[in-house]
Amino acid sequence: MRPTTVAGYEALARAVTPPAVWDYITGGAGGESTLRGNLASFAGLWLAPRVLADVSAVTAATSFAGTQVGLPVGIAPLAYHTMVHPDGELAVARAASRHGALMVVSMYAGHTLEDIAVAAGGSPLWLQVYPLRDRDLVAGLVARAQAAGYRGVVLTADSPVHGVRPRDRAHRFQQPFPAAAVNLGAQSPAAAPTLKQLLDAGLDQTTTWRDLDWYRGLSSLPLILKGVLTAADAVRAADAGVDGVIVSNHGGRQLDAAVPALLALPGIAAAVAGRCDVYVDGGVRTGSDVVKALALGARGVFAGRPVLWALAAGGEDAAGHLLEMISEELLTALALCGCSGPDDLDRSLIVAETGTWARLLAR
Ligand code: LAC
Repeated sequence: MRPTTVAGYEALARAVTPPAVWDYITGGAGGESTLRGNLASFAGLWLAPRVLADVSAVTAATSFAGTQVGLPVGIAPLAYHTMVHPDGELAVARAASRHGALMVVSMYAGHTLEDIAVAAGGSPLWLQVYPLRDRDLVAGLVARAQAAGYRGVVLTADSPVHGVRPRDRAHRFQQPFPAAAVNLGAQSPAAAPTLKQLLDAGLDQTTTWRDLDWYRGLSSLPLILKGVLTAADAVRAADAGVDGVIVSNHGGRQLDAAVPALLALPGIAAAVAGRCDVYVDGGVRTGSDVVKALALGARGVFAGRPVLWALAAGGEDAAGHLLEMISEELLTALALCGCSGPDDLDRSLIVAETGTWARLLAR
């Protein structure tokens, strides 16, 4: 029988995934407080539905940086899908395309950007890049993405170095990895004893706001800055002309004790005040979670681990089923909230538990 919840896919994936890969995907940085906090932040909010609204024509469709999407739930950039399934990003791209869900393709994908575009069949893709020392490599990836029809570029800003992840330490997670970053070709960073060292060696730690113009200039595609957690940084990003920010703590994988993304969202949405799109990721598991994030000011959300869990459990079919479940839950939650679509969601739907949430939303 198919799982009926994200947790069901998590359990299935765990049973079929080698422990070192499982812990790499599922674990977080340090004591994993941020990983837990992302989930807890959703649990601390309740919805106050409106009754007797005409919900005869409910839609989940919206737009991400000007691109029409069928769902306000995109696929977060996840490295090395092929660690859990040989079809990797191709399977996820096909599954996402069935729902019109935007997929962010990681620079560390296990299939070529071009093959993923073919699999997506015109469904929207963004390319995620890190600020690498090798700027020619980044420029080449962005050029290839634009030529292949990608609709946006996501610059991950929260990773001047990669987080310290005790579960990876425990497994001595190291080369050779059970997957390759094929788009980096021969120019892959030099081999290093651990994944953190390998990735860190390629990153340009001198990167600052001054470099954003260079990234903007790489293509005519929208530029989205990922990993913003403060209103000040979000305003700075909007001032710099980015098309969107993704409020994210990298799934709790970078700075342990970083603020849960959902807690940072309301202040950022208020400060940005529509000058650029605001998205959020980290802890989205159900349709009601999507409603909560959109009601707090997000244009869309991104789902990460759940997608890899489904991919591991059953490839394209399972990834499609996961999105189908979230879509059904979202459409149902919208109707039950008395809303016809994402644009109808606002803060008046949110009831916060006393404590952190109540204080934050009272500001
Ligand atoms: C990670 C990097 C690769 O979180 O994004 O492992």
